Amino acid sequence: MKRTPPVWLETLRLELREFTPDDIGDLVRLDGDPRVLKYINGGKPMSKRETDTAMRRVTRYYALYPGLGVWRASLRDGGRFIGWYCLKYCPPTTEVEVGYRLLHAHWGRGYATEGARALVDYGFDDLGLGRIIGVTHPGNKASQHVLQKAGLSDLGWGRYYDRRLRLFACERAAESRA
Ligand SMILES: CC(C)(COP(=O)(O)OP(=O)(O)OC[C@H]1O[C@@H](n2cnc3c(N)ncnc32)[C@H](O)[C@@H]1OP(=O)(O)O)[C@@H](O)C(=O)NCCC(=O)NCCS
Repeated sequence: MKRTPPVWLETLRLELREFTPDDIGDLVRLDGDPRVLKYINGGKPMSKRETDTAMRRVTRYYALYPGLGVWRASLRDGGRFIGWYCLKYCPPTTEVEVGYRLLHAHWGRGYATEGARALVDYGFDDLGLGRIIGVTHPGNKASQHVLQKAGLSDLGWGRYYDRRLRLFACERAAESRA
């Protein structure tokens, strides 16, 4: 029987919940679009097999690292799947990164910024993280803009995912620790 996990985070327009293997069709649609993967995975759309592997990793992650994960996002108005947001360790480090991947049809409406801001707040206020990073391909200006609008600053270059990427970061405000 299908089990749909509860929504655990809501913003003005979005709701986030854990993925289950039954959501594989959503990921196949997202990761099979070359426009979405232009700056990821060397620009190559993912095969069904690669997406299956990614789904297994995603659905195991919640129990391995409670509080962190990659969450399925849909619109509160109508419930359509739009993509995912994450807060997870950024390989090969133990730094926590905020990330997002949206279906092309939903770009340009502020959804990435809205979800990223909510996860940054959650990371600092609920998880008590000291610092959150974001990493992007140097050409991915839209993503860099989103990270900056979510409060992360440009720190130059860093090496993550075995690539030279732009590094953005944000530290928990001193006053919130008091
Ligand atoms: C990156 C992505 C999440 C952005 O989603 P989005 O919902 O369109 O983002 P938002 O609307 O919240 O904000 C995008 C901002 O970047 C700006 N922008 C878009 N394209 C840009 C470009 N080429 N150069 C500079 N700024 C750009 C937009 O104008 C907007 O800023 P504004 O609100 O100040 O006008 C979306 O394009 C996506 O899913 N891409 C594929 C996956 C991906 O690259 N993920 C990030 C990996 S690091």
